[in-house]
Amino acid sequence: EQNDTISVTFVDKDGEDQLIKVPIGMSLLEAAHENDIELEGKHADWNVGGWGACEGSLACSTCHVIVMDMDYYNKLEDPTDEENDMLDLAFGLTESSRLGCQIVAKPELDGIRVAIPAATRNFAVDGFVPKPH
Ligand code: FES
Repeated sequence: EQNDTISVTFVDKDGEDQLIKVPIGMSLLEAAHENDIELEGKHADWNVGGWGACEGSLACSTCHVIVMDMDYYNKLEDPTDEENDMLDLAFGLTESSRLGCQIVAKPELDGIRVAIPAATRNFAVDGFVPKPH
């Protein structure tokens, strides 16, 4: 059977799991917006509009998500230098951090679970591996 969507779980800022279906080829940023997932990637210093502020042009790091399982993390394409530069600025960076606008749904990612950094700050989330700056 050919599936054209995958299941993605977001751990939101309240620590709640939200399961959504994401079409193959769509970024997690777009999917989160389409599903009205409340994401909050604001650093205290930022006055910008929150998650996905640059709409996927790798000019912010507000779309920072933490992939909760290294097996899934390892299935992602390697981040570009531009993504790594932005991630270095992200608050609460972890070993499995990525930018949500750069994670594009593909069949191997079915079942992936990602948290927003606020969730890992406020709740004990399994798999959270802090990375020192
Ligand atoms: Fe700005 Fe992803 S939305 S880098």
